[in-house]
Amino acid sequence: MPFPVTRTIAPKPIPSDVGNTFGAYFTDHMFVMDYTEGRGWHNHRIGPFGPIPVHPSCSAIQYGQSIFDGYKAYRCDDGIIRLFRPKAHLERINRSTARLCMPAIEPDTVLDAMVQLVGLDRDWVPHQPGKALYVRETMIGTEGFMAVRPAKTYTFMIFLSPVGNYYAEGADPVKILVSDKHVRAARGGIGAAKAAANYSASLLATEEAKALGHTQVLWLDSVERRYLEEVGTMNVMLKVGDEIVTPPLTDSILPGVTRLTALHLLREWGLKVSERQIAIDDVLAGIEDESIEEIWGLGTAAVVSPIGELTYRGRSRVVGGGKIGPTTAKLYDAITKLHTQAGNDPYGWRVDVL
Ligand SMILES: Cc1ncc(COP(=O)(O)O)c(C=O)c1O
Repeated sequence: MPFPVTRTIAPKPIPSDVGNTFGAYFTDHMFVMDYTEGRGWHNHRIGPFGPIPVHPSCSAIQYGQSIFDGYKAYRCDDGIIRLFRPKAHLERINRSTARLCMPAIEPDTVLDAMVQLVGLDRDWVPHQPGKALYVRETMIGTEGFMAVRPAKTYTFMIFLSPVGNYYAEGADPVKILVSDKHVRAARGGIGAAKAAANYSASLLATEEAKALGHTQVLWLDSVERRYLEEVGTMNVMLKVGDEIVTPPLTDSILPGVTRLTALHLLREWGLKVSERQIAIDDVLAGIEDESIEEIWGLGTAAVVSPIGELTYRGRSRVVGGGKIGPTTAKLYDAITKLHTQAGNDPYGWRVDVL
């Protein structure tokens, strides 16, 4: 659909190397559209990136009616910029909005806006391997009122950030603290939505873990504090003997697109893959008897992140000798090739920008 594009009159210098940063820079333009009950989405536009005015009593600020999503655009080795699985992320946005009583977006219109926006800011897509342009979509309730009910007006935005490694460790194994004090998301709550509130819920435990020298937190279920849910802002997988195990999706786990991609590949490779609950006691016992040699996290930001050490109730255990294991490495390699290797799109997951 055609909509107005206003180019910035003050383009910023493009950082020559985004290094080990994530989310430190923003490109020159953003896409915005507004929603009013009874009228639907309107006022679609691309304009200069910058602050937006919000009512101090809008539902996003007061009651947390705020969701987001994110994925990456890659500069492939044939020079073409491609979005990776944008359609899966657009579907997830509409599951998030439904959970928070927010309006659905129209996926084709938004995909078109993404392609136009990334095309406009194409020079910001990093050239270095392992780096990419992160595409962030956000929806906020904008109506100013003071009652706990869904807003009648919303704004949806897309903006872009050139990114490097999410973790300073890069692809090196990270140290994880198992949290049995705090939970990320409650059963019956909004954990399966990419709601801003889930991330505020995670901050204290993560800060406490970092203060103790860990990179991230491994979240257990909210009822028994026993079953693995996620690790930091990633889904989690383990190699238990010759079986790959990942927790089944529940209403407290974010259904990751990278998890979906990995499950697809692992099954295609003929490996035994189970989506089943796994208790922390079994994980610790498995690390000790070496039946668990690999644990890894999966997410857009870090792609595949090996876990080298788990600390639970004051005791640390090294996983797989603290090194990246063969399944983790193979997955990392296969997924990054799907991101950037020319001609390697067997499942039709990529969308060309230009
Ligand atoms: C809580 C949480 N879990 C899992 C993921 C991984 O999801 P995806 O692979 O779609 O990036 C993310 C990142 O988006 C996340 O924030």
